[in-house]
Amino acid sequence: MALDYPRRLSLAQTPTPLQYLERASERWGCGHRLWVKRDDLTGCTLSGNKVRKLEFITAHALDNGYDTLITCGGVQSNHCRATALAGAQLGLGVHLLLRGEAPAQAEGNLLLDQLAGAQVDFYPARGFSSELPARFAHWQAHYAARGRRALAVPTGGSDGLGVWGYIAACEELREDFRAAQIERAHIVHASGSGGTQAGLGAGVLLHELPATVWGVNVCDDEQYFLDKVAADVADLCRRYPQVGTLAVAPNVLDGYVGAGYAVAGAEIFQLIAELARLEGLVLDPVYTGKAFAGMLAEIRAGRFEGTRDIVFVHTGGIFGLFAQRGGFDH
Ligand SMILES: Cc1ncc(COP(=O)(O)O)c(C=O)c1O
Repeated sequence: MALDYPRRLSLAQTPTPLQYLERASERWGCGHRLWVKRDDLTGCTLSGNKVRKLEFITAHALDNGYDTLITCGGVQSNHCRATALAGAQLGLGVHLLLRGEAPAQAEGNLLLDQLAGAQVDFYPARGFSSELPARFAHWQAHYAARGRRALAVPTGGSDGLGVWGYIAACEELREDFRAAQIERAHIVHASGSGGTQAGLGAGVLLHELPATVWGVNVCDDEQYFLDKVAADVADLCRRYPQVGTLAVAPNVLDGYVGAGYAVAGAEIFQLIAELARLEGLVLDPVYTGKAFAGMLAEIRAGRFEGTRDIVFVHTGGIFGLFAQRGGFDH
């Protein structure tokens, strides 16, 4: 029976290609076939995994009389940039609450936030998460007092609404698998706020996709993501009873955060450069570079033995690369 989706807008260029990485498979596959789901190609500036979530989030906003989106993230947040551009495209106001200090010069995602006309406020990193609920409430009240209505979009667009983006992506992947004659696969991706992982986990079940999903966390730890995915799936089931009860058991590949969120070691920059030369595929140092490195380490350790195909979801993030160009100085 067809799944009853909430309404969505058409923002992402989908279906994205599933691309076979011939030379990377030879170099790093240890007998596996490596594929990449090109969700970095969901658009140009409005690109990456967040666009899939925003299709549902923006439809919800418009259907419920919101005229403004408030969301949050790091100074180089891909989610904030995608929200700023989607909002501008739809005529919605966008207000970004960013963690950290204003740089002397805006670049990468922040430059695009500003070009898209988003209001940007910077807050100290210390205590940022704990103070977020009060800040969202403050700004929602601010807009309400001016006769406007602002939707609070959580970090990464990750909640029971945003997860629909990757539930829908699983429907696309089912068709990709059929076309590529993939009978069973491991799916690997970067996890930052848990919504992509929750969506893929739910989507695999709802669309009976023959796959096991592995999130490589780029911040926090395994327990954080087990809890966060469970919370997002619970929110999904509560808000959308048509999905029934979903027993999503997330797999987290912990151990690849390195020195911290958005801090990548020389080996990550080396891998990014090597893959770019080898396959013309460009990763970023915050999310996809660490996740790809984690996937290769797990392949070497034999984690995926017994299954030929591995699908890496390229979730985007290219603009974060420019903000860290100094990492290539070696
Ligand atoms: C490029 C990129 N990849 C992966 C992720 C992780 O996705 P999620 O926040 O849904 O876990 C993000 C955002 O956090 C991202 O910007």
